[in-house]
Amino acid sequence: MPIFYDAKNKSFTINTPNSTYAMYVTEYNLLTHLYYGERISDGADLTYLRHNSGVGRSLTYNEITYEDYEMKGHAKFCPHALRQEYSVFGIGDFRTPCLVGRFADGSRAIDLRYHDHKIIDGKPALEGLPAVYLNEGDKAETLVITLKDSAFELYVELYYSIIEGHDQIMRSERIINKTGKEFFIESALTLNLDIHKKDFDAITFYGKPNNERYVERTPLRHGKISVDSTAGSTGHFTNNSIIICDNNADEDKGECIGATFVYSGNFVTTAEVDHVGRTRLTMGINPTGFCWKLEDGEGFTTPEVILAYSNKGLGTLSNGFHDLIRYNLCRGKWKDSRRPVLINNWEATVFDFDEDKLVEIATDAKEFGVEMLVVDDGWFGHRDWDNTSLGDWYVDKKKLPNGMEGLCKRLNDEGVELGVWFEPENISEESDLYKAHPDYCIQIPGRGPMRNRWELTLDLTRKEVRDNIFEQMKKVISSCPIRYIKWDMNRNITDAYSLSLPADRQGEFYHRFILGVYDLMERIVQEFPDLLIENCNGGGGRFDAGMLYYSPQIWCSDNTDPVHRFKIQYGTSLIYPVSTMGAHIAYAPNINTFHHTSVFTRGVTAMAGTFGFELDPMHETETTKKEMALMSELYKKHYFTINHGDYYRLISPYEAQPVTVSRITAWEFVSKDKNKALFSMVQMDNVNDGGDLYVKLKGLDPDKKYKLHMYYENRHYKIKPFTPWIEDKDFGEYTGEILMKCGLHLNIFRGDNMAALIEIDAI
Ligand code: DGJ
Repeated sequence: MPIFYDAKNKSFTINTPNSTYAMYVTEYNLLTHLYYGERISDGADLTYLRHNSGVGRSLTYNEITYEDYEMKGHAKFCPHALRQEYSVFGIGDFRTPCLVGRFADGSRAIDLRYHDHKIIDGKPALEGLPAVYLNEGDKAETLVITLKDSAFELYVELYYSIIEGHDQIMRSERIINKTGKEFFIESALTLNLDIHKKDFDAITFYGKPNNERYVERTPLRHGKISVDSTAGSTGHFTNNSIIICDNNADEDKGECIGATFVYSGNFVTTAEVDHVGRTRLTMGINPTGFCWKLEDGEGFTTPEVILAYSNKGLGTLSNGFHDLIRYNLCRGKWKDSRRPVLINNWEATVFDFDEDKLVEIATDAKEFGVEMLVVDDGWFGHRDWDNTSLGDWYVDKKKLPNGMEGLCKRLNDEGVELGVWFEPENISEESDLYKAHPDYCIQIPGRGPMRNRWELTLDLTRKEVRDNIFEQMKKVISSCPIRYIKWDMNRNITDAYSLSLPADRQGEFYHRFILGVYDLMERIVQEFPDLLIENCNGGGGRFDAGMLYYSPQIWCSDNTDPVHRFKIQYGTSLIYPVSTMGAHIAYAPNINTFHHTSVFTRGVTAMAGTFGFELDPMHETETTKKEMALMSELYKKHYFTINHGDYYRLISPYEAQPVTVSRITAWEFVSKDKNKALFSMVQMDNVNDGGDLYVKLKGLDPDKKYKLHMYYENRHYKIKPFTPWIEDKDFGEYTGEILMKCGLHLNIFRGDNMAALIEIDAI
């Protein structure tokens, strides 16, 4: 019984394999938080943890009697002193509130009390929203606690779902208005978590186009650390995940609590330390620009937050997220089967290509293991540059005279599959669609819209707009065997306004837009269940758990330089599995940075992602093509260990390392049965220290013996030019215990950004 209610103590306990979450209903039906931490044995009474320190303010709930107040102490009855399970605005809890709203009389005080609860089998779907789902055979339970306002018929249902074998708790709420009049929701965050202590670090993610999800770790201090987006999407600048952890927590030790939002629109997450040293963690839809009108009888469901606890550091926290995301959030055949190695023509040609050029790229790339060609931007309308044709999803016969069918046939004859790029949410003013329906784009009457890359955004809150785009996409995708689409989105949302909404509902725009995007994606997924979808937002600007429900992979960044990708992918891996990270071998020197790295280093980095290519093979030499073929072969060989095993960050690329020592970054994949592992490392800069390097492996079976085989680049100063080449050799046999306690011994590198890959197989 993982979720139970103790009627005597009026307490709720949610047990996952390694964590316990507990709440308690106090006198006057106040729902307060008791505990979130290490797993406690079933049946334990945790109500003694209800004690709250005084906060120096004697505000009490309305009906508290003088006797109770005098006898039991004000801390029990003061909203700001309680560790609230679900926080509201207006009655004296002055920390970040989850729910802010306005009743028909204009008042904003909400006072929610425990009303009733139920524990149900399974996990309800969230209508219109992406959410963790159950596979056949999964056992799950959901606790639904209903709160009711003390004055009006306003209800909030709190949902807590758990799945057997997983350590995460999925949370969401449904706000239900039965007041007889309208109720305006001004903020509806999903997560509220009030924790006893304050000695946490917050780990958040920042970035910009070309450098998404860099990791920032900072101690919490009194007041708030807040990360948010108002860009209409998750965005490049921030990510909608947060981890708080012990100050000394690392990959292997310490308490950590992580939360990620299954949502792709504006969000906010805060970690707030109050003046008596408790931490409140919140996450939800960003209230900035948000206001939702609930008519009497209507409900509003908040998007889901996945919450997780680990007392074994960040590595365990991440691997828990990875398993849940890849098996219970990503859907469709591609979550389990090996995805094709693809080549994308964007960096090779930009808009300048035709059928022959694409077939040439595919045919050449086939020689190094490519199985699919993705035609990126520029195949439609008369899109010769980025200022036209979005919205006109029909083939440009100048480039593809035989249509998609003709291209597809030639590729299929070569044994190569076809994938196609779309940017369904946007429209160019120079397009047939705009000429026919200028009202389809987001615009505020009387105000000229902001342009981004000369694009406007379609008003996807409107069904007729979604229908138009869906029908166009369906026609293309069903015209021939298209196996993959890249769903791009190259601008942020501004001028939030829909011609179809009345003035008092315009605050619903951002959320309705994302619901519209989800609806369109769901229709594509239902129509083409076997289609592999890769999400993209001008690089990695929409990397979030919401999108992973529709597309099992997301382009991680337009920065394809491994020197930066180490950091981008490392940051991304704190929450998201490598199977979701779009990563390719691109040109050297890199088109963004001009860094020159070897095929091997680019390949090792792309292997910590979905692996593919983004270049024109005609610029490659016979040697680099051979190296590419080897990388494809290695990727295919280790696909299941990489994508279905555990992932260990061994040495962080962010780690400050002594300047006199060569800096390296290293990571490792281990199959679930611990019979196979793959170690990867890159020496980021070489100070020619000639020193010995020992890297301790993780996750192996200490009692098993493993045979090691190493791939590495050799360079010798006597051979000119200093072109590296990939060599391989047996690298000894060791027990798991030795590899984990003493470490791998490495000392062979001479150059910057040189990599090594070691296959580790149980014998
Ligand atoms: C942005 C994407 O990140 C690129 O990979 C490419 O698809 C361009 N858009 C095309 O416009």
